[in-house]
Amino acid sequence: MSQRFQMAATAFALLAALGWTSAAAQEAQEISLEDSRKIFASNCSWCHGSFGKKAGKGGPKLAGTPRDEEALFQTILKGQNAMPSFKNTLSEEKIRALARYIKSLPADEPPAQ
Ligand code: HEC
Repeated sequence: MSQRFQMAATAFALLAALGWTSAAAQEAQEISLEDSRKIFASNCSWCHGSFGKKAGKGGPKLAGTPRDEEALFQTILKGQNAMPSFKNTLSEEKIRALARYIKSLPADEPPAQ
């Protein structure tokens, strides 16, 4: 009887642990696109334009970029030529969210105003 109980208890603990880790992982990576848009507006749009649509102060248009999310992440993290590094300004989580946000922009996204 106790063996059976132990098996059930182990299975339950395992499921609970799995549920907990996947919930924690999801929480860690889910910054919404709406929040990403705000992060972009306050850190990036003065150079890249609203929604990354237009080149502002020297920043290229980002909407519709053919580069993948990882490449964008690396550029934002480390900087690239005249593009400043955001390693010390934004968390890695926020930089990931920005890379995701840029990839979500359609190439013909209209400007904000
Ligand atoms: C001071 C102006 C400035 C700011 C602020 C700025 N950028 Fe840039 N960004 C640039 C310039 C200039 C380039 C072109 C770099 C080059 O010549 O390779 C660039 C390039 C990039 C690229 C690479 C584009 C490509 O196709 O290779 C990405 C991605 C990018 N910026 C994202 C961001 C994000 C996200 C932010 C806000 C966190 C941001 N930038 C803030 C000026 C800026």
